[in-house]
Amino acid sequence: MDFKALIQKKRDGFALTKEEIEFFAFSAANETVPDYQLSAMLMAIFFNSLNEEETLWLTDAMARSGDMADLSAIDGIKGDKHSTGGVGDKTTLIVAPIVASCGVKMAKMSGRGLGHTGGTVDKLESIPGFRTSLSTDEFTDIVNESGLCVAGQSGRLCPADKKLYGLRDVTATVDNMPLIASSIMSKKLAGGADCIVLDVKCGSGAFMKDKASAKALASKMVEIGRGAGKKIAALITDMDTPLGKNVGNSLEVIEAVETLKGRGPEDLTEICILLCAKLLELAGKGSFDECKLLAKAKIDDGSALLKLAEMVKLQGGDENYILNTDLFPKAEFSRDVVADESGYISSMNTEGVGSVCVALGAGRQRKEDDIDPSAGIVIEKKTGDKIEKGDVIATLYCSDEALFDVAEKQYRESVFIAPTKPEAIPLLLDVVE
Ligand code: URA
Repeated sequence: MDFKALIQKKRDGFALTKEEIEFFAFSAANETVPDYQLSAMLMAIFFNSLNEEETLWLTDAMARSGDMADLSAIDGIKGDKHSTGGVGDKTTLIVAPIVASCGVKMAKMSGRGLGHTGGTVDKLESIPGFRTSLSTDEFTDIVNESGLCVAGQSGRLCPADKKLYGLRDVTATVDNMPLIASSIMSKKLAGGADCIVLDVKCGSGAFMKDKASAKALASKMVEIGRGAGKKIAALITDMDTPLGKNVGNSLEVIEAVETLKGRGPEDLTEICILLCAKLLELAGKGSFDECKLLAKAKIDDGSALLKLAEMVKLQGGDENYILNTDLFPKAEFSRDVVADESGYISSMNTEGVGSVCVALGAGRQRKEDDIDPSAGIVIEKKTGDKIEKGDVIATLYCSDEALFDVAEKQYRESVFIAPTKPEAIPLLLDVVE
């Protein structure tokens, strides 16, 4: 098949056939087409979209582009969760060990940072030795042994998504509904779990900026999952404000550990409990309210924290970093952002905050970029908080002091101050089942 002709067909607004979509996915997986042609196809899809059938075919082809994890030999119900991406979204590091401690095996395939959003794989790799590149057998064995594994799209798991995800990150082709739905659901189908909870983020820090598009994405993914025989639900949650206080890779691991110790920020803790409860409910552990109590109990008795440490050890990481987060190296430089007026934080451009974090070195501008694990932001004041002139509203961290002037300016431009307190937005906006 002539790949240039396929690009042209999509560029001119025509639908691709099943064979053509498969050719696209397998060419990405096997790297038989150069990056510039794959990127051109992504941009053509971005502008002309994929119809329902094309989205289903792409999901299926990407899931089959590598090995499909066969978890059938593992006893019990297998669960999975996925977020559509946000700023400060470290929920996997909290939800996965809690759910695993409740006896539901967690077999999770995660991604790296995408656009202005962080990725679980990058966060976990800030722990020395931690391996996210696992063979399908290793993935299955670890789920079997400890009930919890978080792998990257590496080895032979979903290689088509791995390739396209990396290209989308640096070609401004992320925020497209069919591409997001097929990317997430291909990983969920290849991961082999029975029950899946999706966290569809909505607001200025999400790819879906309004509730209608978040709901449309949630419905599409739930439909794909249900068609594949999965028990699946989506929570639509607020991403108009960063989640928790810490944004950046090791900073987010540290905050996740604090949350598993019961000392996490309220918004982060609440969203994690809701996600755990929905997944546990799908797995047959009780009603939604019963499952909330079950999840909280695993924080209170410390078992979820120990489960995270066990996972880190089994995936080659140093679990002492989980047991004592002071071991994480600190960024060499820091700069406080100080309020120059009093009032309330009326809103935040959360995508802007995520982009500041990328600019500080916590994300990639180009595919081959290394990231700085200790770079990031600690946000002291968020939407709704009262501030006095002179208060520290955030502290920026990085390894190159020269980055601070632009980063501070961009951070200030992302935070809006008004004399009156804004109306609070609920954290849970909707549920799609
Ligand atoms: N998460 C994914 O795995 N893929 C996307 O496209 C967006 C978020």
